[in-house]
Amino acid sequence: MNGIDCPTGCPFIAPRDVALDFPVGMVRAVASTQEPGPGEVDETKRNVLKLLAVAGVVAAGAGGAIGGALQYARPPVVGLSSYPKTQLIDVNGSALTVDRVMKEYSLTTAGAIFIFNYPLQNEPNFFLNLNPTTLPVLGGIGGPNQVSDPTKAQGPIVAFSAICQHLGCVPPAIAYYPPGTCPAFTPSGKNGSMKFYIHCSCHGSTYDVTSNANPLTGPTLYALPQVLLETDADGNIYAHGMASLDGVPINGHIHNLQGGYGVGNSQQLYKDTPTILCP
Ligand code: FES
Repeated sequence: MNGIDCPTGCPFIAPRDVALDFPVGMVRAVASTQEPGPGEVDETKRNVLKLLAVAGVVAAGAGGAIGGALQYARPPVVGLSSYPKTQLIDVNGSALTVDRVMKEYSLTTAGAIFIFNYPLQNEPNFFLNLNPTTLPVLGGIGGPNQVSDPTKAQGPIVAFSAICQHLGCVPPAIAYYPPGTCPAFTPSGKNGSMKFYIHCSCHGSTYDVTSNANPLTGPTLYALPQVLLETDADGNIYAHGMASLDGVPINGHIHNLQGGYGVGNSQQLYKDTPTILCP
């Protein structure tokens, strides 16, 4: 028999006089285990190698992307384990003493605010001398004890976080307003008639600086955290901690000591010009 040698009784392939026209070369290239002849290319092997090469590139890229994603998914924990004792330095570079503050930092007129960072480099605080005042100021130094205690009435020198507890506006949008800055605004705080307050022009929150920066007007619900101050025997002023009487940390922080780098053992005050928008 010519053509395919079909056994007797083969039901499917009828005897033919010519070879069947299968694409023999292609079939062998895909399915055969034979090695290709000279000049021939094994498409199967080449395709497999191409596939492996592409898979390797994809895997490497995916590995890099995952590694990069993990790097940013796990931010480094930056912060401090305890409050530093930080000496405050004058805007001119000399040590800040109680005597100097009482003579040069009486903030009775609008136009300047003094700020220092504590306990982290990205946490501004107001430095305030409410003198002259006849009112006792909770937690202030400048009195006989010279160590601030937010539960006791002491001197007029106080420091509060300058990050608004509503949505986090910072100076100059939030600023200290000395008495008389906005005559039509007469908030009644714990020490009512003195009207020393901090006002945030972002949404109108007002804080009573003669009463631990408790809210006078909303929308804030929380007081500004207070910086604890103390002096040494020479009257040099140090920040040594923070107190949030309502238990709420500085806005934007899970903990007052986390989210930035510490300020170290000294920190210089700087002056800023406030944005004054009367409530
Ligand atoms: S951020 Fe200060 S009142 Fe809203």
